Amino acid sequence: MFLRNAWYAAMWSEALGAGSLVPRTILDEPLVFFRKASGEVAALTNLCPHKFAPLHLGKLLPGDRVQCGYHGLEFGSSGECVRNPHGSERISPNCKVRGHSTIERHSMIWIWMGTAPADPSLVPDYSFMDDDSEYHITRRDFLRIKANYRLVADNLMDLSHSPYLHDGVIGGPDTIKSDIRVEQEGNTVKVHRPKQDVRPTGLLDRVYRKDGEPVDIWSTIRWTAPCYILNDTGAYPPGGQRTEGSGVLGAHLLTPETEDTTLYHFAATRTGNVLDKNEDQVVFRQWFSDARRYAFAEQDEPMIEAQYQMRKAYPAATTRPILLETDAGPVRCNRILDELIRTEQQSSS
Ligand code: FES
Ligand SMILES: [Fe+2]
Repeated sequence: MFLRNAWYAAMWSEALGAGSLVPRTILDEPLVFFRKASGEVAALTNLCPHKFAPLHLGKLLPGDRVQCGYHGLEFGSSGECVRNPHGSERISPNCKVRGHSTIERHSMIWIWMGTAPADPSLVPDYSFMDDDSEYHITRRDFLRIKANYRLVADNLMDLSHSPYLHDGVIGGPDTIKSDIRVEQEGNTVKVHRPKQDVRPTGLLDRVYRKDGEPVDIWSTIRWTAPCYILNDTGAYPPGGQRTEGSGVLGAHLLTPETEDTTLYHFAATRTGNVLDKNEDQVVFRQWFSDARRYAFAEQDEPMIEAQYQMRKAYPAATTRPILLETDAGPVRCNRILDELIRTEQQSSS
């Protein structure tokens, strides 16, 4: 169902303050995150082995110990029980919780969910988020979508929905037709949807010339298994060069919370030229962040959730979808993911 030996985006760095115990469910596993005194992130299974109280209801003690809030067992940052305050104070060898490898990179806390050794070189490259000055990047945002993560990936990898679902915001009637090209390299799929001499979408017009005049558009959305997405789009003068234009680079990090829910983290930056030298960058940033959140939370989210409910309610009627040419990208992603999960399950059985 899930690929386990991979890094998953757990939360933005700022969501984990010093001294707090933050719960998250990832791949159907309850987890508690906290910062050690050094600032490094630790993650444990959020389930006390005594009577199964969630550990995030306890306390973080000096020495990077988590004290269960129910009867006070204490666990170290790797999950070993370090104190039993009761009776003989004996600690049973089975009294432990699982500790997970974590890494903090690109303003994000990542967790490794598998049993193979965690490989830091496999953290996906979202280094454009490292410059998090408020003039550079949108708000780092988050949604919890009540649908399987593959449907959210399908939505992003097939942007032919934009002219309909996002008309006037990040889509428009001129963006229906485009020469779609799908490219695969290893476990990465790119879908290119360039357009020539079309009216810009609302967002691209605001990012670029603000005159509504026709533009050429570049649009490449990249998926890397299991669920890391990067959208690179922008506008430039018809027949001109991309370097003359302005665009948007958007990170879309999907993490399966459960089979039926997805943690969706997103942020974006401007790329290329800022033509309006008098533009108030703070106002722009606010607008840019709000417009993107509106599109994802008010337009994509209800549609994806409604679609997922239909699939759950009518499984027999929804097993064989009609495929359009625009589905080539998502189909490819799903095949790669199926194969990776199958291989992982075979090697662990
Ligand atoms: S449930 Fe945690 S100590 Fe009892
Ligand atoms: Fe969308």
